Amino acid sequence: MELKEAVYGRRSVRKYNDKQISDTDLQEIIDAGLHAPSAVNLQHWYFVVCKSEDAKSRLSKIMGGSIFGLKKVLNNRFGNHPEVIEETVNFVKSMGNANVIILTFLQKEEYDGHEGIMGAIESSAAAMENMVLTAYSKGISSCWLTAPIHVEDELRKEFAPGKGRLMAAITLGYSDSKPKMPKRKDGRYIII
Ligand SMILES: Cc1cc2nc3c(=O)[nH]c(=O)nc-3n(C[C@H](O)[C@H](O)[C@H](O)COP(=O)(O)O)c2cc1C
Repeated sequence: MELKEAVYGRRSVRKYNDKQISDTDLQEIIDAGLHAPSAVNLQHWYFVVCKSEDAKSRLSKIMGGSIFGLKKVLNNRFGNHPEVIEETVNFVKSMGNANVIILTFLQKEEYDGHEGIMGAIESSAAAMENMVLTAYSKGISSCWLTAPIHVEDELRKEFAPGKGRLMAAITLGYSDSKPKMPKRKDGRYIII
């Protein structure tokens, strides 16, 4: 698949069917993350790839606790769109029946100064973008979500003790439907 097709075609998908992701495809998605650029080549990411039923059920138990904080954020942003709030809450509770969920933590608890912290965040975001685009190129849908940050402490304790902060999660799976692209806003760049 052309890169352009992946960049324009990828959508955040919040409902998956039961089809399994093959080990080869999953490994290639992880490898794409590992090949992202990173500030001073620190490769700041630490991925916890939840694939087993046991890991996913431990994760969804903890995710249930995020709903209260999440609803507050959603009410502020989508107060006039209760259907969006409902869809997102249902998605976060069940992770959309995703076949695999990747939790992206930082490798270390501390980075040096503002530049160090920004470098860690941006590098892990680059890795996540590589993963969602690679998934899309294989016909695998995804959603990048920061909602799990509402239960960051619990997730760190359960899945990544001694590692750094939780950046986000990525759900992965096959889907029977493709959402429409949310409108892109005007006035978000300037060429000078
Ligand atoms: C940093 C980040 C955090 C996000 N967090 C959530 C989330 O918590 N829950 C969710 O349902 N979608 C989440 N999304 C997906 C966005 O809602 C989605 O990217 C946006 O609506 C644009 O849609 P598109 O991805 O289909 O282009 C997140 C995306 C990004 C990049």
